[in-house]
Amino acid sequence: MSAKVETLFRGDTGQLQRRIAITEKLTPAYFEQEREKIFRRAWLPIGHASDVPDDGSYFVREMPTLRTSLLVTRGQDGQVRAFHNACTHRGNKLVREGSGCSRTLSCGFHGWTFSCEGELLVVTDEAQFRDLDKRVLGLRPVPTEVWEDLIFINVEDEPRESLREWLGEMHDEYHGYFEQHQRAASNRVIVRSNWNLAVNSFTEGYHTLYLHKRSVPDYQGGRINPERHRPFMQLFKRHHRYSAPANPDHKLTPAEALAIKYGRKLIPAFDGDMTGMPPGVNPSRYEHWAFDVVQFFPNAVFLFGNHWHIEIFFWPIDADHTEIVQDLWYYKPRNAGERISHQFFASRGRQVFLEDLNTLEAQHGVLSSGSLTHVQLSQQEMSLQHHYKVVTEMLAEP
Ligand code: FES
Ligand SMILES: [Fe+2]
Repeated sequence: MSAKVETLFRGDTGQLQRRIAITEKLTPAYFEQEREKIFRRAWLPIGHASDVPDDGSYFVREMPTLRTSLLVTRGQDGQVRAFHNACTHRGNKLVREGSGCSRTLSCGFHGWTFSCEGELLVVTDEAQFRDLDKRVLGLRPVPTEVWEDLIFINVEDEPRESLREWLGEMHDEYHGYFEQHQRAASNRVIVRSNWNLAVNSFTEGYHTLYLHKRSVPDYQGGRINPERHRPFMQLFKRHHRYSAPANPDHKLTPAEALAIKYGRKLIPAFDGDMTGMPPGVNPSRYEHWAFDVVQFFPNAVFLFGNHWHIEIFFWPIDADHTEIVQDLWYYKPRNAGERISHQFFASRGRQVFLEDLNTLEAQHGVLSSGSLTHVQLSQQEMSLQHHYKVVTEMLAEP
């Protein structure tokens, strides 16, 4: 049977290339340009405002890509801020790791103490310092904005665009969505792969029929869409999103049937009731919708579903290594049955995630050796075409 679903494209699809020269993109020299012109200029999501729930809450986020460690706090005024996690005396890490809640934070080296708004409060044995102005020795701030519970940072002292400009149309389309969910599981791995290849593995659905044939064999497409064409794809200035097609004929396995007896349908058994979903989720209101995939350029890929979402962050360490963190967020459980149901879907999610990782190291090995100089991309991989267009554009900026 031939495919009956044609993709509805929105956005500027001009100037995309279907054949991408890949070898140079995997080199250390190229990565250094990406670090300077993409990662140091982008608004990057690094956590949730709900991770700093109370005044005085804080967490540390290591940022190998930017060669820094960040300290994210909620001040006594309720505001979320990020700082370089560096004591202004001699640069010790102010907070080694983890998270906590405290009105003040003291450096373990010589005891300098800062408020969670970043001011330097106490210099121990201060008289020995002669002419020290504490007012200019607060923690070095990093521009920070909260959008729909997500904390974005930008390490430029003066970002070229506001977060609103950076997010563009998507800014107003997800109101209230994240607040419905809580983190249910988290997986972290370092892979021997370039970050571009890693992101690419999560932003097309072409592979699902083959790579996931054992774990979730019939969760997308089905008889009405055997090639699993994406019903909807949208390209923005830098980001993009598409919708994945559910299989209306999907047969529940016994384990899935049990899990949804006690809780809601989550991936790969989808809840078709879209009541109350914000306009950005399933933007074309496709009837047999499974979930959306959104790339917040450059390095965050989110899957938006009904009652759940998944966040995947790709942090390049160097040209050949990427840290990947996957967080699963589900509706807030009201009882033990719903918690157990969550665990079933979380273990299924982990299995699919491992399959997605499985090709990366092999692909990176081949492509970085130069034995294949180009990759070929189909219309169903338009998100990848767009990704490389944006990378190239940003590297060309002065
Ligand atoms: S480095 Fe922090 S008090 Fe000395
Ligand atoms: Fe996949």
